[in-house]
Amino acid sequence: MPDEMSRALIRERARGLRHLEASAYEPSALVIGILGTGDFSRSLARRLVACGCRVVVGSRTPSRVSVFVHQVASQMEAANQADLVFVAVYPEHYSTLVHLKPALAGKALVDVSNGLQIKQEGPSNAQQLADLFPESSVVKGFNTTSAWTLQAGPRDGSRQVLLCSDDQMAKSSVMQLCRRMGFIPVDMGLLSSSLEIENLPLYLFPSWRTPIICTLALFIFFYLYNSVHEVLHPYITGGKNKLYKLPIEIVNVTFPSVALVMLALVYLPGVIAAFLQLWRGTKYTRFPDWLDHWLTRRKQFGLCSFLCAALHAVYSLCLPMRKSARFQLLNKAFEQVRRRNNMTMQFKNNFADVWRMELYLSVGIMALGLLSLLAVTSLPSVANTVNWREFTFIQSTLGYCALFMGTLHTLIFGWDRAFLAAQYHFGLPPTFLLVLILPLTVLLKTHTRSHTHTQTAEQVVLSLLPSCGDSMARLFLCTPFRSGLFNSRPREPVSCRF
Ligand SMILES: Cc1cc2nc3c(=O)[nH]c(=O)nc-3n(C[C@H](O)[C@H](O)[C@H](O)COP(=O)(O)OP(=O)(O)OC[C@H]3O[C@@H](n4cnc5c(N)ncnc54)[C@H](O)[C@@H]3O)c2cc1C
Ligand SMILES: NC(=O)c1ccc[n+]([C@@H]2O[C@H](COP(=O)([O-])OP(=O)(O)OC[C@H]3O[C@@H](n4cnc5c(N)ncnc54)[C@H](OP(=O)(O)O)[C@@H]3O)[C@@H](O)[C@H]2O)c1
Ligand code: HEM
Repeated sequence: MPDEMSRALIRERARGLRHLEASAYEPSALVIGILGTGDFSRSLARRLVACGCRVVVGSRTPSRVSVFVHQVASQMEAANQADLVFVAVYPEHYSTLVHLKPALAGKALVDVSNGLQIKQEGPSNAQQLADLFPESSVVKGFNTTSAWTLQAGPRDGSRQVLLCSDDQMAKSSVMQLCRRMGFIPVDMGLLSSSLEIENLPLYLFPSWRTPIICTLALFIFFYLYNSVHEVLHPYITGGKNKLYKLPIEIVNVTFPSVALVMLALVYLPGVIAAFLQLWRGTKYTRFPDWLDHWLTRRKQFGLCSFLCAALHAVYSLCLPMRKSARFQLLNKAFEQVRRRNNMTMQFKNNFADVWRMELYLSVGIMALGLLSLLAVTSLPSVANTVNWREFTFIQSTLGYCALFMGTLHTLIFGWDRAFLAAQYHFGLPPTFLLVLILPLTVLLKTHTRSHTHTQTAEQVVLSLLPSCGDSMARLFLCTPFRSGLFNSRPREPVSCRF
């Protein structure tokens, strides 16, 4: 028992870690070492010195390094003097540092390296460093912070620094240091997370790939479709050269078409998901991967739609400015004078057209206003100021309103022209008709869904799935409905899965 009492509560650690414990309260008490004298090292040293830290930089050839804010020592001197060491050399050169092993034993080593390509399996650079220096505590971090951000300070660029380590004490010391430098440390857990952290800077908008491909594919399709409709057709049938329409008019039919279809694609997966849950009679089974993927990309689909709608609005405002529009106006006026028509008569004859334009423009502006609200709410700083119910109201209810307004805008724009044979060039329907298919499908399906609130489950299933007959009905009637579709309480935050 006396032996037990005399044993120290905290195991005696090597010099570096004892210093780290002290530094948990005062990081400036630490001597920070940096191995390597490249871009990253220079920027880091500058920032650390600016924050009042004591820095020692270690180079293989100290005499050859001149452009430093701090005196450069040899690698061994730096390793000996420092309590916490940043390894700012490329991972392929880690093996050249093994002679520093005794000097670095018991100290925290910060691995700042990035990979050259995305790795699905380890070991990560940090784990390789930990294998080379088993007596040191490796902390992964700062690889997502560029040398430029370090030099300019945390106000320029991302302020978050993702950190992970198997040694809690070493990690919290680096976190303290991070805060002192003006960054925000984010604890990513154990060193096994280092692979994920190293992959992060290598991704190129992974969640945007599908929405961007969809936007581009739709843009190309509608652009070609409209060119055939508006440029090729008049040329072939009447020898008229309408190529001047390509830069603005065709683009201004293409952008709104993409905007509306993309907006419908934001709400279509929710409808499919709800129907799938209804079909299965439960919400506790996994969706197919493609639907899961689609559901998690709705924000990006929505923002692409917003961008196209905003560009369409700008293009629309420019329509009357064009020389071709002015010539058309002059030609019309000239034609009227030639035919000795009365202007007032013309206005009266085109009363329906006047109303049509007033209405579709007003509804279009409202649709864009709602989309702008959705886009603003998708900013994390704004989203954080509303609760889940408010966010769902804006994203879901007002989002559907935006889809409805966009569809109405297009319907009014189309007016009765869907029934005019002259609009079917080469037998192809006018673009607005093509564009309306998906939004109308989503809106009609949602309308059916919202009716489920006032019907019994049995009625809904039977009315929704007439063709599936008795077997489907039996399946649904026997299964308790837990999907939340049949009550009016706000839905639970299902989207928290992404
Ligand atoms: C400009 C713009 C910006 C946008 N920004 C954002 C944004 O910041 N964040 C965002 O999340 N969306 C964003 N969106 C997309 C869209 O507004 C939201 O996803 C919206 O909540 C979808 O509403 P919903 O009623 O169709 O879907 P939901 O209410 O999510 O779903 C409808 C039904 O589908 C089922 N379901 C859906 N998802 C799941 C799931 N993951 N697990 C289980 N069941 C599920 C449920 O049965 C649910 O009842 C944006 C859209 C636009 C146009
Ligand atoms: N640059 C950035 O913006 C940035 C951002 C995040 C992470 N990083 C990471 O930081 C590390 C350093 O990047 P950097 O841009 O500073 O690279 P760099 O400019 O090429 O500098 C690398 C330094 O490593 C040292 N070194 C030590 N042993 C070496 C060896 N055997 N062969 C060659 N050089 C050796 C050299 O300094 P001495 O000759 O003085 O020894 C050299 O200056 C990398 O792992 C990188 O992934 C960089
Ligand atoms: C400020 C907002 C808006 C304005 C000023 C506006 C204006 C216009 C104009 C002038 C046209 C006729 C273009 C032409 O003559 O070819 C048009 C058509 C159209 N608009 Fe908008 N619009 C707006 C918002 C929107 C939004 C938000 C959407 C969809 C999300 C949308 C979708 C469409 C569609 C699909 C067409 C039919 C394109 C065609 O087939 O010719 N518009 N809009």
